[in-house]
Amino acid sequence: MNISDKIHETAKWMKNRTGNASPQIAIILGSGLGSLEKSIDVSIEIPYQEIPHFPVSTVEGHAGKLLIGRLGGKDIIAMSGRFHYYEGYSTQETTFPIRIFYELGVKVLLASNAAGGLNPGFRIGDMMVITDHINLIPDHPLRGKNIPPGPRFLPLGDAYSPRLISLAERIATKHDITLRDGIYLADSGPTYETPAEYRMYRLLGADAIGMSTVPEIIVARHCGMECFGISVITNSGQKTSIVSHEEVKIAADKASADMAIIFKELIENLSLSEQC
Ligand code: HPA
Repeated sequence: MNISDKIHETAKWMKNRTGNASPQIAIILGSGLGSLEKSIDVSIEIPYQEIPHFPVSTVEGHAGKLLIGRLGGKDIIAMSGRFHYYEGYSTQETTFPIRIFYELGVKVLLASNAAGGLNPGFRIGDMMVITDHINLIPDHPLRGKNIPPGPRFLPLGDAYSPRLISLAERIATKHDITLRDGIYLADSGPTYETPAEYRMYRLLGADAIGMSTVPEIIVARHCGMECFGISVITNSGQKTSIVSHEEVKIAADKASADMAIIFKELIENLSLSEQC
């Protein structure tokens, strides 16, 4: 079965399973962001293994289910647990849920992740709004036959929505939350970087580094969605101390409450008609 047939079949199954839910906003919950998940008023929970053609997340700390419910006064669909290239999937497979969201009518994607800080001004626990990215994952999610209605050659000059970035900045200021901004670099993982690699990625111009988000943003843009991304800085690439997945989850959890405020108010203030 080709990818377009799979998308069609899964979208049909989802419409049936959810009573034709048609959220316009999708959220991807990154590692350890528990409070953000708790702030959603969930009405339907669907484990990934029940969904036809969905990959199943294999990472500890990524629960692996779709949540349908309300946040900030609007209908949303959220991924609790995402798929990563390092798990062995192609990026076309890891981004399959985004294709389904598009079929359900999603117009805006809000993504979160845990990331290592490369900018020396960043502190552990800081949040960074993603203003641009560098993609070093060696598998492109749009490689292969083009999936309509997206174009074959997709421009990414405006991948991260300026109006959502300035809205998030206004919300952070109102709540006295420190919000950094910067460039997110995605590499393949699953290893964290060596000290020399952290230095190299800083030289490339990145402010934070992680193993996700970029393929999802690319596919969401291909589907014409407006995108926003935010990283929690869970460890520092400046320090040569050894980073662990546990440490990453604990730091993400601490920032989770502030992240929940930003996402909730972003959604509350989002007017869906004036999209770019
Ligand atoms: N590198 C890559 N991915 C990460 C890191 C890191 O330092 N921290 C959290 N995710």
